[in-house]
Amino acid sequence: AGVFTYDPGFTSTAACESAITFIDGAEGVLLHRGYPIDQLAAESHYLEVCYLLLYGELPSAEQLETFETTVTRHTMIHEQMHNFFRGFRRDAHPMATMVGVVGAMSAFYHDSTDINDPWQREVASFRLIAKMPTIAAMAYKYSIGQPFVYPRNDLDYAANFLNMCFSVPAEQYNPDPILARAMDRIFTLHADHEQNASTSTVRLASSSGANPFACIAAGIACLWGPAHGGANQACLEMLREIGTVDRIPEFIARAKDKNDPFRLMGFGHRVYKNFDPRAKVMKQSADEVLELLGIENNPTLQVAKELEKQALDDPYFAEKKLFPNVDFYSGIILEAMGFPTSMFTPIFALSRTVGWISQWKEQLSDPALKIGRPRQLYTGPTQRDYVPVAKR
Ligand code: CMC
Repeated sequence: AGVFTYDPGFTSTAACESAITFIDGAEGVLLHRGYPIDQLAAESHYLEVCYLLLYGELPSAEQLETFETTVTRHTMIHEQMHNFFRGFRRDAHPMATMVGVVGAMSAFYHDSTDINDPWQREVASFRLIAKMPTIAAMAYKYSIGQPFVYPRNDLDYAANFLNMCFSVPAEQYNPDPILARAMDRIFTLHADHEQNASTSTVRLASSSGANPFACIAAGIACLWGPAHGGANQACLEMLREIGTVDRIPEFIARAKDKNDPFRLMGFGHRVYKNFDPRAKVMKQSADEVLELLGIENNPTLQVAKELEKQALDDPYFAEKKLFPNVDFYSGIILEAMGFPTSMFTPIFALSRTVGWISQWKEQLSDPALKIGRPRQLYTGPTQRDYVPVAKR
């Protein structure tokens, strides 16, 4: 017995204190350690934002250089792990591979699993931020039957990722700096987002004292769902299914129909009841990339632009305060870069790793940390006596 607050979906329960990310959903504001996301996306870059999220302040030039060098030096994965990849079917979704491989890191890196040792926590955080792009790129290469590409220390974080995804032994891929910048911006825009489902999953897993690799694997698993990180893949598939501008009203009608489970993917957010500030930057980035690649007339983009317009003009979406979210435009950029839809959520996962790690570290340094243990409202039978099978 006991008195509980019943809050399914945690719409009104704060589960922790945090000094990392602030969101004002009504105003469409997102701040990391106080800095607005649009400024960070325009003027900073991903690894600097990683430092900010992890340590609370922007780094000095020297601190940034040390941080970048450290991350760069940890990008290779243990050679033995290549065999682990080879155990998967080639047609495995890269997210399935990532859940497995990241969880398996705890079997490879014994010197960074002791959560009570601050230095091991630090090493685990470098390892995860550094190796996640390598793992995501390897999952991709494996799925298309191409050889793995080792990381390169002379490239920056985003260019290195593009290289690992798109180079083949016969031909080196040299990403255009505008594309590398757009990739970096996608990483930056996904870096952290307060107590979303996957971050809360990481915190809950960690509250039991689980090792960091197990916790991040749990976060990746949660992110995969279409209501969360999987929305970017689902959104692009939806835009393709709509196909032509004239079919948009039909899909809007379906989204409004209570008897149809269809939702407009990339629309709506639990916290934002205004334009997602990340979507604004993403939209601008999409325009730049498509112009660079000379595909402004891409039919998917035409559908996206018109769908956005018609949905925003529709009273249903206005009343429910449903606006495009970050996933609405990211897929268009990723598709233009040459990624298949199955890589969209892995890219989200690698970007969000720093957010998960920052929150994991913050939680572990909280002296009031308790195991997360929600209660329930029991709705099953009252006590009754067991009946042996012969008498049932
Ligand atoms: N299309 C049509 N109707 C919608 C949509 C949508 N995309 N989203 C919400 N609604 C309606 C919903 O039917 C409900 O109507 P009613 O009050 O009449 O029952 C109302 O709006 C409120 O929706 P909710 O499901 O109670 O809101 P929530 O806060 O639980 O869900 C959400 C938030 C993001 C899961 C939801 O908006 C959704 O499913 N969106 C599509 C998937 C998506 O784009 N997800 C990415 C989120 S941003 C990045 C990330 O978190 O990974």
